[in-house]
Amino acid sequence: MNYETHEHDVLVIGAGGAGLRAAVEVSAKGLSVGVVSKSLLGKAHTVMAEGGIAAAMANVDAKDSWQTHFSDTMKGGKFLNNWRMAQLHAQESPDRIRELEDWGALFDRTPDGEILQRAFGGHTYKRLCHVGDRTGLEMIRTLQDKGVHSGIDVYMELTIFRLLKDGGKIAGAIGYWRKTGEFVVFKTKAIVLATGGGGKAYQITSNSWECTGDGHALAYEAGAELIDMEFFQFHPTGMVWPPGVKGLLVTEGVRGEGGLLTNNKKERFMQRYDPKMMELSTRDMVARSIYTEVKEGRGSPHGGVFLDISHLAAERVKKKLPSMYHQFKELADVDITREPMEVGPTAHYMMGGVRVDAETGASTIPGLFACGEVTGGMHGANRLGGNSLSDLVVFGRRAGMGAAEYARKLNSFPLLDQGELEKAAKDMETPFQRSGDENPYQIHRELQESMQSLVGIFRMEEDLKKGINKIEELKHRAAKLAVKGERTYNPGWHLVGDLKSLLTVSEAVANAALTRKESRGAHSRIDYPNMDEKFGKLNVVVSRKNGEMNISTSPVPEMPEELKRLLAENK
Ligand code: FUM
Repeated sequence: MNYETHEHDVLVIGAGGAGLRAAVEVSAKGLSVGVVSKSLLGKAHTVMAEGGIAAAMANVDAKDSWQTHFSDTMKGGKFLNNWRMAQLHAQESPDRIRELEDWGALFDRTPDGEILQRAFGGHTYKRLCHVGDRTGLEMIRTLQDKGVHSGIDVYMELTIFRLLKDGGKIAGAIGYWRKTGEFVVFKTKAIVLATGGGGKAYQITSNSWECTGDGHALAYEAGAELIDMEFFQFHPTGMVWPPGVKGLLVTEGVRGEGGLLTNNKKERFMQRYDPKMMELSTRDMVARSIYTEVKEGRGSPHGGVFLDISHLAAERVKKKLPSMYHQFKELADVDITREPMEVGPTAHYMMGGVRVDAETGASTIPGLFACGEVTGGMHGANRLGGNSLSDLVVFGRRAGMGAAEYARKLNSFPLLDQGELEKAAKDMETPFQRSGDENPYQIHRELQESMQSLVGIFRMEEDLKKGINKIEELKHRAAKLAVKGERTYNPGWHLVGDLKSLLTVSEAVANAALTRKESRGAHSRIDYPNMDEKFGKLNVVVSRKNGEMNISTSPVPEMPEELKRLLAENK
């Protein structure tokens, strides 16, 4: 029971853009803040938003405004977005970019020295501030630097596996050092979840090993509500070859710079699906179009389509897309200044997540806040490219402020319930006491295959039901998993914990997808191919009732008249 214990006014779980921005804010308010990172500081999925951060700076297109950004975001999200989040996001993004610049971020410039902005799918104007194709990386570098110099305490390579409550409110969390397997307890007044998404539920994904939906599962287990879980974004362009890098992101910046998509008949096939927007249509549309081209036999040799940027001068390609140039040269022996890339859809981003208050990031559990990809609402049914990086800094700051304000009002630290703590530790240790030969890697593989084939880009009732049954079977098998060896350096044991999160996320995605009997944004039902007005007014809500997953619906928050008028004007 003598676990290593730390105390912070606010604990931030996750060290991507949202978590770091939240921590900087808490620290600025004079409170003590700890940041827990499952991986190493600087290695976050944020870096996979390569092509830019969206903000209506109007540096390249003077006509741009927050109103147009707001309208584009709502249209992209098929009007299911939490309107207040979309409004705050559009209004505050430019200030957050200027702030990043003040803190040392370097952006590409226009000839007259303003931050340069490029085109991206679904954005009316050139709106993506960028640093070549390394924007997320630059953002993380900046926030990490700022955070460390603000005096935040960072706990790296530490996985949190349970949130702890005092009565109904947050009191702490328990985790383990990935190296030693030793448990660590955090006492805290407030927690900010910023754990990103759960792309590892799918076989083909741009996400790396950390992205197992931990925050979604922690919040769900603690009693918070999840919304919009049926909307999983497949980025249209991931690498398809060689097999070892299948799914690795090919930035939308390639299309933003003029990249063309063609099939094996040399047709620019987007003409068939969205002749107005072509390659810069929204991600859901481009991903479905590529999938259809491949399915109908017009794909590339390795099961994708072609993305070609070789019509631009080689020097320009290398300057604007340096990572893509090296990625293809080194991993696929393809020189993108001379030949096309082969690309196909890859599971990239979860629109669904913890239901939060737009202003403060507060969840429905007192003391639990969330920001970034782990939240739902901001992006509705489909996120526009570049809106994730701006989401991270806008709502990272807001969640940091919300948590700090909440923590300041508590006179003392909530009490940790020793029974709850011991139960969490015991649950985590149990796999060592079991015997059996079920393999966690096999369960993970089967889950990924099922999610990919049954809960993927196109869905139908029969497949979704099969998927749900499979997840149920895997849950039972996972609950009996036995682990051999010690707690030190034991990746098999870590995967047992990650599987719990992945299975919760997958169950939520599949059940929400079954509930939404329409097609909208990233959720495409073959058996309900059209949008349905009734579902356009509803969020699907996932919560835990009596230990079981409960699925319900609730009305999408009503938009004020002036914003309705604005949307009508920007149709
Ligand atoms: O394509 C990209 O660079 C990804 C951007 C994003 O997900 O926002």
